[in-house]
Amino acid sequence: MSTIVLDEAKTIKTLNNISEKGLHVFKDIYTLDDNHENPDAIVVRSFNMHSMEFGNHLKAIARAGAGVNNIPVEQCTEQGIVVFNTPGANANAVKELVLTSVMASSRNLFDGVAWAKTLEGEGEQVSKLVEAGKKQFVGKEISGKTLGVIGLGAIGALVANDALRLGMDVIGYDPFISVDTAWNLSRNVQRANTIEQLFANCDYITVHVPLTDDTIGMFNEETFSFMKPGVQILNFSRGGLVNEDDMATALESGKIGRYITDFPNDKVLKMENVVPVPHLGASTKESEENCAIMAARQVKDFLETGNIKNS
Ligand code: MLT
Repeated sequence: MSTIVLDEAKTIKTLNNISEKGLHVFKDIYTLDDNHENPDAIVVRSFNMHSMEFGNHLKAIARAGAGVNNIPVEQCTEQGIVVFNTPGANANAVKELVLTSVMASSRNLFDGVAWAKTLEGEGEQVSKLVEAGKKQFVGKEISGKTLGVIGLGAIGALVANDALRLGMDVIGYDPFISVDTAWNLSRNVQRANTIEQLFANCDYITVHVPLTDDTIGMFNEETFSFMKPGVQILNFSRGGLVNEDDMATALESGKIGRYITDFPNDKVLKMENVVPVPHLGASTKESEENCAIMAARQVKDFLETGNIKNS
């Protein structure tokens, strides 16, 4: 069995480590630079595979991550190539960043830290300036505030449950929620029957749905109009969920109090009330390892037994 790993060195290193730990997932691991032209399977993280030609040995592609936007799924299906992803393997990493961001934002940490770094002077002078910051950056506590969670899959359910533990009220919305997922969700998460109901009642809204024809641009001028003035929106899912022109206008008017996203585009990147995060949602050592291991096991199992298991 041979596989090619096209993407980041970290994924390759993880797969090599797995072999060293005695798991021997693959006999051979190649990188793109090795010019291995006709692999049985490909494990990939972010590499865009849309314009790639696939060799006639290729049986499976596994994405070491949740979204499959970088893989031409329809073309693969037509060619009989199975596509895997690793749902849940990075959920904890994303959850931690979402909740960190909610807390940092409500305490004005992003602005306070940036402001402190601009201070100039010496000794006591700087201390006095720093002291002045406590009036300028008075924050709010998240306890008792309402967080809306759109999408209650692996990530959304973790965010919702832990936000409750932090003392927030949580409203969840997911038109496709399955019974299995519902079991993972605390009873104290209030379920909104319509997305408008969620929009109308939240101080913070975080979104955890894939980018599809139904969800593209779901945050736009019309949906903003249902929201509380000053609501803060967190988007660690996909940039395309938000209409960035409408977002820029809503940020300018103050309708949206803050937009925190790891998919900022040039329209909002430099705006004062935007927190542009590099695409860090799943970037922890633990999450990268979990995703690489899950992807490698899926492919190994499939090549050896024909089993298709997306978990
Ligand atoms: C994902 O789809 O899982 C995320 O975009 C995480 C990533 O691979 O960076």
